[in-house]
Amino acid sequence: MRGATVVVMTLTAACAPARIAPPPPLTAPPPAPPVDFYDDVLPILRERCMPCHFPGGKMYGRLPFDEPATIRVLGTELFTRIKDEGEQATIQRFLDQKPGNEPLPGS
Ligand code: HEC
Repeated sequence: MRGATVVVMTLTAACAPARIAPPPPLTAPPPAPPVDFYDDVLPILRERCMPCHFPGGKMYGRLPFDEPATIRVLGTELFTRIKDEGEQATIQRFLDQKPGNEPLPGS
């Protein structure tokens, strides 16, 4: 039975409250400012995908790029045509954000 006593005492010691205060939590880096569709994403699309996916363009009816909903639906498929890493990162951050008060298509 001596063995059992040693085990119990060892467990008790392991569960004793730590005397050393835990280190303070690392301060999180400040969150990156949210990406705004109209301010941040749209200029990229205008620059690259004019005129076809904008008003008057032949793809505007099917894939209007001035609608945030289109960009959410296409998602990373856009990256087959938008290759710049910085631009991809901006669009990716937009996609990762919860949809805000963006108008839904047709509303
Ligand atoms: C010169 C006109 C034109 C431009 C500029 C253009 N597109 Fe398109 N896009 C089209 C047409 C036409 C289609 C219809 C499908 C096809 O014929 O390839 C299309 C379809 C698409 C599709 C649907 C999936 C597919 O591959 O067919 C995506 C996604 C797309 N375009 C993304 C883009 C992006 C992103 C840009 C800008 C970087 C862009 N397009 C610029 C004409 C254009």
